[in-house]
Amino acid sequence: MKWQGVIEKFRPHLPLGSDVKAVTLLEGDTPLLPAPRLAQAVGLSGDLYLKVEGANPTGSFKDRGMTVAISQAAAEGSRAIICASTGNTSASAAAYAAQAGMEAYVLIPKGKIALGKLSQALLHGARIVAIEGNFDQALEMVSAIAQQHALTIVNSINPYRLHGQKTAAFEICDTLGRAPDYHFLPVGNAGNITAYWMGYCLYHEAGITSGTPRMMGFQASGAAPLVQGRPVRNPETLATAIRIGNPASWNGAEAARDESGGMIGCVTDEEILAAQRLLATSEGVFAEPASAAAVAGLQKVCGTDQIPVPSVIVCTLTGHGLKDPSAITDVCPEPVSAPANIDAVRKVLKL
Ligand code: F0G
Repeated sequence: MKWQGVIEKFRPHLPLGSDVKAVTLLEGDTPLLPAPRLAQAVGLSGDLYLKVEGANPTGSFKDRGMTVAISQAAAEGSRAIICASTGNTSASAAAYAAQAGMEAYVLIPKGKIALGKLSQALLHGARIVAIEGNFDQALEMVSAIAQQHALTIVNSINPYRLHGQKTAAFEICDTLGRAPDYHFLPVGNAGNITAYWMGYCLYHEAGITSGTPRMMGFQASGAAPLVQGRPVRNPETLATAIRIGNPASWNGAEAARDESGGMIGCVTDEEILAAQRLLATSEGVFAEPASAAAVAGLQKVCGTDQIPVPSVIVCTLTGHGLKDPSAITDVCPEPVSAPANIDAVRKVLKL
């Protein structure tokens, strides 16, 4: 059957009434890409797959949660939604709100949003405030404003978001015909690790899969509250999507880690950029820096021989690399220019 988005595909597993009409951009059904060259490069002998969530309509995994949250909000008669965001949530919220005919209000940390994400929120017509503060402060304000003005919050503290995002775990199990042994993903506000774990547990309890993966979450070392065991007041990382010091789903992330027998670790910005490049050059996949944190984490774990063979490993690439082109152009030298003649071009290309 033609793909109709995650709500129509997984409705029996979602807490939506049968009369709730889907607001959808046909999100989901993203590639689960075998990654043998990356596996070899990080010294992994198991089967590695990449869940390429940048292939969603607005370029990140947020669309899975947004279709469910905004469909429910529309069914409840909500006229406007609000969110705090490091970028991707606002892009997704603005797009789905546009389709639902709702107003979208967005609070972002000033100067800390990747250009691609900001341009999405702008074009979809969101009302945006760039606050002189960080994501954690923006989320606190959003909670207060939403109550005062009866707006629907579409951050992951909205439970419908997590129900939507858990569908990525379903897709992985459906494609593999089993649950993976390990699942690597980046952790910021910690909604996604919570959602994946919920999805894997649901399939296991329903008898669809016989096991669940170890959940392997990675934060940036300058924004690693779950690793340090306490909130970080001034989180810093070039992976702006996960520049978060006090994750809303703290308990969910710890439960996912502990119940699955997994871990939450951290990686430096240098490791993140190196992993982003390795992913791009070995498999041809362009993911944003936050997504590469999961690859850097995989690389780190493989370096210490913690993964037994044979294992099936999935790594979620949460957002498209084009969201944040300056992460590349800031560190790569500009292309060499040449006059428009073949000899000059040959010389530069060393042909
Ligand atoms: N990767 C990307 C590309 C993200 O945009 C985010 C979160 C994460 C990973 C972390 O996921 O928060 O569920 O642990 N972005 C949010 C936003 C915070 O506002 O777009 P998480």
